[in-house]
Amino acid sequence: MSEQSQSNLKLENNFQSKFHSNIQSKILSVASFLPSNVVTNFDLEKIMDTTNEWILQRTGISERRWVTGDESTSDLAYSASIKAIENAHIDKKDIDMILLATLSPDHEFPGTACFLQGKLKLSGIPAIDIRQQCSGFIYALSMADLYIKSGRYKNILIVGAEIHSQGLDKSTDGRDVSVLFGDGAGAVILTANEVKNKDTDSHILSTHIHADGQFAKELWLPAPGSAMGREGRITNVHLLEKLQYPRMNGKAVFTHAVRRMIESLDECCNCNNVKLQDIDLFLFHQANLRIVESISQRLELPSSKVFNTVQKFANTTAATIPIGMDYAIQENKLQRGMLVALSTFGSGFTWGSALIRY
Ligand SMILES: CC(C)(COP(=O)(O)OP(=O)(O)OC[C@H]1O[C@@H](n2cnc3c(N)ncnc32)[C@H](O)[C@@H]1OP(=O)(O)O)[C@@H](O)C(=O)NCCC(=O)NCCS
Repeated sequence: MSEQSQSNLKLENNFQSKFHSNIQSKILSVASFLPSNVVTNFDLEKIMDTTNEWILQRTGISERRWVTGDESTSDLAYSASIKAIENAHIDKKDIDMILLATLSPDHEFPGTACFLQGKLKLSGIPAIDIRQQCSGFIYALSMADLYIKSGRYKNILIVGAEIHSQGLDKSTDGRDVSVLFGDGAGAVILTANEVKNKDTDSHILSTHIHADGQFAKELWLPAPGSAMGREGRITNVHLLEKLQYPRMNGKAVFTHAVRRMIESLDECCNCNNVKLQDIDLFLFHQANLRIVESISQRLELPSSKVFNTVQKFANTTAATIPIGMDYAIQENKLQRGMLVALSTFGSGFTWGSALIRY
């Protein structure tokens, strides 16, 4: 039996006996990494026909981070992961699985999780890409939670990482999309934890994930892709038609985002018999401040309980939720023992939520 199989068997024996016991998933650590290069709305005015006023009024975004060098998504993921491992005070060899959510992979294949794993030098453990766009982190959290509760794994590294800036149409043609997105990464170590008191001990209460592929082309990147025809996945014609850039029906995305994030929160509350008023902090996907404000108004959430980063970092898709958690911790808005609701929506359409006793 190989060393890896032996260690898997040991893990199973260690944890299988606790299946159906009080083993729950706990967020052991959180970290993020943002490129240092700040791109303001005024910088964008210089390269496309847009204005600071338009972007601020329609989205609430003032600035975003865009890489300047040859970094790849797995480089950003690596920087966030190393910090998360340090913050967790564990040996990186104790990580049993890597889940990486991104829509801006290093290459078409293999998955970016494999590139990250190579950089972390963690050969042998499973490394999986999650391709659920802005909902990727909550999908990954949901899967990791079930792997831990089943007793299969003890420590799981979950990463959301994106480099959008290299893949945006930065001419006026692409201004409706390109002003919205930023680069960044966030990482979390999820660990198995025996919970004695569910009202106070750190654990994930529940996760909920959904998709509706009817709307797949409301926000998508056509090429390269196997559906692009017999001439090839990406041709000169595709390039002339700018099919290598994201396309979005902004109004449809906006409407569905508000509706689905409200539904997701409702699902979280009903599942756990919790009222919105019982929740200490809300972290919504950060696509547009107006989306968050619309949800907050409808649900009458006090602004002091809603944490936003979109003003400074724009939409970092799969990285947004862990980046938000990290900054909320740094600003003392997220503390141990708090009840936290995460809710997200993205291309697919995909959406989901999680309720966490942090
Ligand atoms: C994209 C979005 C900000 C546009 O806001 P909006 O209120 O729907 O836009 P409006 O209809 O008021 O304005 C559209 C006009 O602004 C123009 N415009 C688009 N982007 C612009 C920009 N960056 N600068 C200036 N003008 C812009 C359009 O060309 C259009 O002009 P026209 O009316 O002359 O055709 C908004 O729809 C949105 O945020 N949608 C959700 C996007 C999202 O969250 N995506 C990620 C989800 S995970």
